[in-house]
Amino acid sequence: MNASAKSNVVHRFVGIPTAPPDSILGLTEAFLADKNPSKMNLSVGVYKDASGQTPILKCVKEAERRLIDNETTKGYLSIDGLPDYREQVRSLVFGDSIDPSRVAILQTPGGTGALRVAADFIVAQLSPTRIWMPSPTWANHPAIFAAAGLPSETYRYLGSDRTSFDLAGMLEDLSQKTKPGDAVLLHACCHNPTGVDPTPEDWKAIAQTVAERQLIPLIDFAYQGFGEGIEQDKTGLNTLLEAVDEAFVCNSFSKNFGLYSERVGSVCLVAADNETMKAAQSQLKTIVRTNYSNPPRHGSAIVATVLQDPELTSLWIQEVDEMRERIDTLRQHFVETMKNTGSGHDFSFLLKQKGMFSFSGLTPMQVDELKSKHGIYIVGSGRINVAGMSEDKMDTLCQAVASVL
Ligand code: LMR
Repeated sequence: MNASAKSNVVHRFVGIPTAPPDSILGLTEAFLADKNPSKMNLSVGVYKDASGQTPILKCVKEAERRLIDNETTKGYLSIDGLPDYREQVRSLVFGDSIDPSRVAILQTPGGTGALRVAADFIVAQLSPTRIWMPSPTWANHPAIFAAAGLPSETYRYLGSDRTSFDLAGMLEDLSQKTKPGDAVLLHACCHNPTGVDPTPEDWKAIAQTVAERQLIPLIDFAYQGFGEGIEQDKTGLNTLLEAVDEAFVCNSFSKNFGLYSERVGSVCLVAADNETMKAAQSQLKTIVRTNYSNPPRHGSAIVATVLQDPELTSLWIQEVDEMRERIDTLRQHFVETMKNTGSGHDFSFLLKQKGMFSFSGLTPMQVDELKSKHGIYIVGSGRINVAGMSEDKMDTLCQAVASVL
């Protein structure tokens, strides 16, 4: 029956306001609806190869073949996920640096799921606590914390030139504005959206301040391997974990395994001792159980299969290296092509940025013009997904950027 044909019915859903589109994923929706034949989507952080595809890694394909042959069940995983996967996350993220009996690892639906579980845990167990985020940060960070009811504040991250790291500003904010017990969000590498990372020396100073102020680091580790390499990208994390006894690490395999839609990540809680870890782990499991019950199997089984096999692991490292090198080449190509447009605008500062993104310095108005006049979609902050660029369209892209400067 047609809803409007019913009499005496009060429609409670009527009048619900429309939410604004997501500042990153909403752009892909707008891009898909755009009829411009030369449109380009450089908004969401997704890697594309030279043919414009987001490829399935060879190591992933091989792991999937093996899973088809050997998997015996689709029964539920336990609340904290696949044991083999968790073991591999432990050695990939922590190596031998931390006593395993102090670390709880729960498989989550992507890095976003990990951040939400951590935020729920902070609210449930550590309130009243605030979380300090870099300014700027990934647009979804404040939204996740707000949805969990975790108050957030920002610390300075980018200098006034909008291209360099403001270590002094960050340390001053963390030293003077935080309270002991507050949480602090840190991007382990490939800072999103800026690509501006602390140096190993900077990390020492950050870790010292975090420890002195008795802050709890929440380390977002979504781009391992996209900065300088799988091991090298752990420098900040290792330095922090040497300085403090308690921390959260949220990791993701969306980018470095190309497992975007499989939603595979983990929330790791480092505690001072095993007894505390076990109690905290039980609370994390309660959060998962009352939210999505238990995580999906397929993506984590792929990661475990690859990382348990030395040959597949070296293939994976090679594929990550190739993706990182291609992104670096595209970034250089962009900077050179911009030079040749004669716009007079020097983009060479982009060459110091790490990871998938370039923080271009384009203003929201210029970003809007790129979209409306050229069908080129980048994030409102001026963040360009370099990993989505293509050699073929580099001239078109740079001409368009030059025309809005
Ligand atoms: C991004 O920043 O583009 C990615 O992390 C994807 C997302 O979910 O926003």
